[in-house]
Amino acid sequence: MKDLEGKTAFITGGASGIGLGIAKACAKYGMRTVIADVRQASLDEAAAYFKDKKTPVQLIKLDVTDREAYARAADEAEKVFGKIHVLVNNAGVGAGGPVEKLTFKDWDYSVGVNLGGVINGVVTILPRILKHGEGGHIVSTSSTNGIAANGVGVPYCTTKFAVAGMMEAMATELQNKGVGVSVLIAGPNWTNLGKTSFENRPESLRNEGETWPPKPPAGAAPRPQRTEEQMRRAFIDPAETGERVVRGIRRNDLFIHTHQEFRKGYEARHNAIIRAIPQEPWNEARWEIMKTFGTVIYNDIYDKQQPVGPPDWE
Ligand code: NAI
Repeated sequence: MKDLEGKTAFITGGASGIGLGIAKACAKYGMRTVIADVRQASLDEAAAYFKDKKTPVQLIKLDVTDREAYARAADEAEKVFGKIHVLVNNAGVGAGGPVEKLTFKDWDYSVGVNLGGVINGVVTILPRILKHGEGGHIVSTSSTNGIAANGVGVPYCTTKFAVAGMMEAMATELQNKGVGVSVLIAGPNWTNLGKTSFENRPESLRNEGETWPPKPPAGAAPRPQRTEEQMRRAFIDPAETGERVVRGIRRNDLFIHTHQEFRKGYEARHNAIIRAIPQEPWNEARWEIMKTFGTVIYNDIYDKQQPVGPPDWE
């Protein structure tokens, strides 16, 4: 989608952090924006930000795990703006601790929001985008932890890998249907993720005695002490991520990165996969058939990803 002016974006988890950064960028480039979020306090803050702006924004209270509410939210968006063109599956949570201590509640919370919410978005909104035929784009927020396991929590990594894989599979299927697909590989952004993950957690999925901020697990190695000023140097402003997402939509990038510092880690993972392919005699008879398998054996969506240059926005 090159021309975003006047088109509608539906952004989940859009009232805070990265989602709000994306909403601001969409609004900056003339899009009509639906901000769907479960947290009223964040919706109020987003409303205050957009109050003096001329951009049309519709705020909707939505828990992305609630399928019926999701359909109602999509209906409301269409009623207000006519059509939805861009879906940003961004709502997400971090939950858990050491893998051996994780409960089914930790898993259900993470999988329900981080993967279930994306599935609900795609099932609810993709048919609507295809139906109006004006083209569209779907972006889902994965993470650097969705490309290589960085040791930040097993459910988080699991769900973010799933989201990345889901977007790559969708990009394959939708490439000739006028709907672009991107994975946002978000690195450290200065947001409210820890706090909102704790506060939004439904009572039924809470472990007993959980507090915010969380207590480090007994016996855990002391964490390096860093000042807020030091941390802020590593964590980017989500407004910048919003710009990167809009650029990615316009360019139809499969992958949208926010940080370059993770390159070595991705290379290590992908090189390990290749190194582990057994060095055994080539089976030509098997290959004769397999090479006719098309995308199953080689998917050229990866070849279509163009190099991305430095920031080109103001
Ligand atoms: P944030 O807490 O500032 O924003 C997340 C928003 O999602 C909040 O407004 C929250 O209320 C909303 N949300 C949570 N559960 C929801 C649900 N069930 N239904 C609807 N809305 C819901 O945090 P942040 O960091 O902006 O998170 C956005 C996405 O970015 C998440 O998917 C997160 O996993 C991902 N991410 C964040 C990174 C970071 O460094 N902050 C790095 C990589 C990925």
